[in-house]
Amino acid sequence: MPSGFDRDFLSPAPLSRQAYETAMAAAQRVILRDYASLDACYGGPEAAELAGSMAALEICPEDGAGLEATLDLVGRLVLRNSVMVSDPTCLGHLHCPPLIAGLAAESLISAINQSMDSWDQAPAATYLEQRMTDWLCGLFGLGGAADGIFTSGGTQSNFMGILLARDVYAERRLGWRIQDQGLPPEAASFRLLCSEDAHFSIRQSLAILGLGEQAAVAVPTDPARRMDVAAAERSITELLALGLRPIAIAATAGTTDSGSIDPLPQVADLAARHGLWLHIDAAYGGGLVLSERHAPRLDGIERADSLTVDFHKLFYQPISCSTLLVRDRACFDAIRLHADYLNPPENEAAGLLDLVTKSLQTTRRFDGLKPFVTLRALGRRHLAAMIDATIALAVTAALRIEADPELHLACRPALNAVLLRYRADGATDDRLDAVNGRIPARLMASGRALLAKTRFDGRVFLKMTLLNPRTTPAHIDAILAAVKECGRTALEDLA
Ligand SMILES: Cc1ncc(COP(=O)(O)O)c(C=O)c1O
Repeated sequence: MPSGFDRDFLSPAPLSRQAYETAMAAAQRVILRDYASLDACYGGPEAAELAGSMAALEICPEDGAGLEATLDLVGRLVLRNSVMVSDPTCLGHLHCPPLIAGLAAESLISAINQSMDSWDQAPAATYLEQRMTDWLCGLFGLGGAADGIFTSGGTQSNFMGILLARDVYAERRLGWRIQDQGLPPEAASFRLLCSEDAHFSIRQSLAILGLGEQAAVAVPTDPARRMDVAAAERSITELLALGLRPIAIAATAGTTDSGSIDPLPQVADLAARHGLWLHIDAAYGGGLVLSERHAPRLDGIERADSLTVDFHKLFYQPISCSTLLVRDRACFDAIRLHADYLNPPENEAAGLLDLVTKSLQTTRRFDGLKPFVTLRALGRRHLAAMIDATIALAVTAALRIEADPELHLACRPALNAVLLRYRADGATDDRLDAVNGRIPARLMASGRALLAKTRFDGRVFLKMTLLNPRTTPAHIDAILAAVKECGRTALEDLA
């Protein structure tokens, strides 16, 4: 007996099957018509016009407008006015073009809608995701007691790593269990060292964790923007002399702007000498592990106590997809909670795995499927070739910038992010800051390139993040020509 709602949900009912096929075909048509066909990084209107169109939208009519008509509207209003992340000139941020294999996996994830908190909501998915984190722990060499969990992104992974560092320190050194007792009186003296180029989520985590941004001790970097380990050692000595408590070091494998990799073996030695927790933020650089050529640059990563690896960066997965790996699974006890309705202790006793027990999220997407499908379908070699190509392109781009008197290269790229600045004889640094500050918006409005803007050594620089292996030296030449053209015009406008 058909139900009045058969068309609305996936089921064996013939009406459901037909409705699903029609809906997916319509969605695919709109994607191919209004998005995949875009041949520029951005071709939409300015922010005010977009805000105006959205404000005029009727959200919930009494009777539905129909799926095909609604998807058609979304195609014209949203997809056409979206950043085309797969365009070879879309180079603003650490925002990767997603692989088609990941997109296919994404459609399975939403179709089956498993919730990763308890095994009874995600039986096979739970064990596949656990298999993925076990495999990753092996890939990064974290040892037999290692474990991990998928998270929403690098920010959450860093937050978790620092939370575990704080709680393990309090329990082991002060005999104080923060989960039960709140922060100990000594918490105001906790300090975490990271390089001055570490991602802002490290400071933000310390603030949210009740330690205050004061707990972040910024260690200077060397000329290659890597943590200066001797300076870090001096800092520890000074902190101890002041009666403060260094609890951890957060090293970065791939800083956001310059892609620099801190000297991991030396940082690990320093952490070991002082008994500090070592967190490594490899949100960006973790992908190098797949490349035979570049993986050795991650040597030392296997000594991390906690490790952030993002898949929505150099693993080319659709947002969101990240993981936090830990050397010793016992540290997850710091966040262990049991809810009668979800993950009662008897499940564990019966050998069932409820991933919520080591997660900060309750309902959680089955993001682990995306890297599994991608890695298995494409294989390591193919992904490594993409990463290698983008790093080689960054070297080419840097050489072209260095050779051009109208451009200034901030530093040799360590990964595939390149920092540059338009320059002109006779213009002051302040004037050039204003000029460079205007270039990204002009480039985006013209659809010629999407570059980011950042500060490097206090000055405004442009950033090309060359994640897309389809970007070629010819694209780079065209973008550099466009940067100079916009720079000259902006200079004239400001004169
Ligand atoms: C080095 C580093 N760590 C962490 C993050 C935060 O990652 P997410 O944006 O996935 O939260 C970023 C983001 O660019 C990053 O570059």
